[in-house]
Amino acid sequence: MTTQIQIAIDGPAAAGKSTIAKIVAGRLGYVYIDTGAMYRAITLKALNKGIDLSSNEKIGALLESTDIDLQPSDSGQLVFLDGDNVTEAIRSQAVTAAVSEISAHESVRMQMAELQQRLAEGRGVVMDGRDIGTHVLPAAQLKVFMSASVEERARRRFAENGLRGIETPLVELQAEIAARDKMDSERKVAPLKQAEDAIYLDTTELSIEQAADEILALAEERLS
Ligand code: C5P
Repeated sequence: MTTQIQIAIDGPAAAGKSTIAKIVAGRLGYVYIDTGAMYRAITLKALNKGIDLSSNEKIGALLESTDIDLQPSDSGQLVFLDGDNVTEAIRSQAVTAAVSEISAHESVRMQMAELQQRLAEGRGVVMDGRDIGTHVLPAAQLKVFMSASVEERARRRFAENGLRGIETPLVELQAEIAARDKMDSERKVAPLKQAEDAIYLDTTELSIEQAADEILALAEERLS
């Protein structure tokens, strides 16, 4: 009998993946890995150092000499970049606007996939991102592709931002989300795409709890 499984949750920006993945991981006692946070961390470093974001070689070399670490805590997952806590800093508008350019580089994706595979090795994990079911964990026992209408995703991000004191207008958020989805879907290496064996979950009409329950029910099926 399988006692622990790998769960891959992919989907476009602001679909609620990380909130729901965190709940699922908590209920199962699994490790939660937010791969978007890892791409955001290297983007923050490149911006801070003024490195040419369009250069596959330069960004790849930067990542080779970078330490990215994810640590669970009572207040959620903490992200460390070369030992510094960057959990808040990686959510800035500047990082959000640049991350899709950086994550399109092959040199970056190869290293990230390797690191993510190592983090998932031999344990129960819930990993969320864009290419988890297709590239990072192709043998995951449960793959979910989660989406919601772009209007609903922008509304959710707007409400979330409000709690954090960020006041980007709703129309701007919607445009940013749509632009990021387009870049992530059209890149050559490991684009945002539903894996053939992934289950599609439209969360437009679902609450966070309902979406988490759906995934937990699927996980129970795989575990039994
Ligand atoms: O999940 P989040 O919205 O924080 O991800 C930020 C960005 O990181 C995405 O828009 C995408 O460009 C990149 N990403 C990726 N592959 C992943 C996770 C995130 O390319 N597995």
